Amino acid sequence: MSTVIDGKAYAETLRARIAESAAELKLKHDFVPGLAVVLVGEDPASQVYVRSKARQTVEVGMQSFEHRLPADTDEDDLVDLIGQLNRDPAVNGILVQLPLPKQVDSERIINMIDVQKDVDGFHVENTGRLSIGADSLVPCTPAGCLMLLKHYVGDLTGQNAVVIGRSNIVGKPVSMLLLREHCTVTIAHSRTRDLPSVCRQADIVVAAVGAPEMVKGDWIKPGATVIDVGINRITDESGNKVLVGDVEYDAAQKVAGAITPVPGGVGPMTIACLLRNTVIAACRQQGVDVPDSIG
Ligand code: GUN
Repeated sequence: MSTVIDGKAYAETLRARIAESAAELKLKHDFVPGLAVVLVGEDPASQVYVRSKARQTVEVGMQSFEHRLPADTDEDDLVDLIGQLNRDPAVNGILVQLPLPKQVDSERIINMIDVQKDVDGFHVENTGRLSIGADSLVPCTPAGCLMLLKHYVGDLTGQNAVVIGRSNIVGKPVSMLLLREHCTVTIAHSRTRDLPSVCRQADIVVAAVGAPEMVKGDWIKPGATVIDVGINRITDESGNKVLVGDVEYDAAQKVAGAITPVPGGVGPMTIACLLRNTVIAACRQQGVDVPDSIG
């Protein structure tokens, strides 16, 4: 039996520390960090995420600004809104929920966000800084994966890490973070030859493909640490709608040393890391030190 990596509990303690740091900033420096979230269209999953982000922002004592725009929004209107948010001193972090509708050039929008307010860490400058090992705002899901790994595994030096998935949101940035921790990193993807045997070499597996239970239990090396980033809604054999990850959990947890469940693993860490990035961005903009409790 493996250790269950409890991301829900870890995220709760992180949010408590963020609330403490927000209170400290108000008391010592008289400012309240603010996060603006922009949602274009009515994608149900995105609506759920945006609602949770706004609720948790307020719960930790920060300001939340929500902008909901119709699905047929013009790219130029979105550009105008980003410009306004960039100029607004009460807004320290800007997140544009992805995916954006087809008529909008996502890359143009992301790169319009003031790099200091890019709490998603998707701006090309933050991406570049991460890849050269410089200080940057780090994408939230990858940052959450790293926190859990360091908490449950400790020093990652020399570990063989296999990241399955090469997205800009998770696969590539998590690979950069693992490299920074001195792992030997393999990025596997849909064209990788003999993925099961690549995976069997891994001390750490990060599955971020968005394919329900694609990673089988017998692909996991005994004792390995498994971080499952997938959140897939499927209908099970009894006709119930359930959430599953990218890893076949029941089989994998019999072999792994430690594994994240779905739900309750990586998922809750993403918003907690977004709130943390907002505090960090606000402190940098105000020219004050980031409180030790989240540093
Ligand atoms: N859509 C899915 N994940 C994310 C994320 O981390 N940030 C944004 N902005 N959109 C997403």
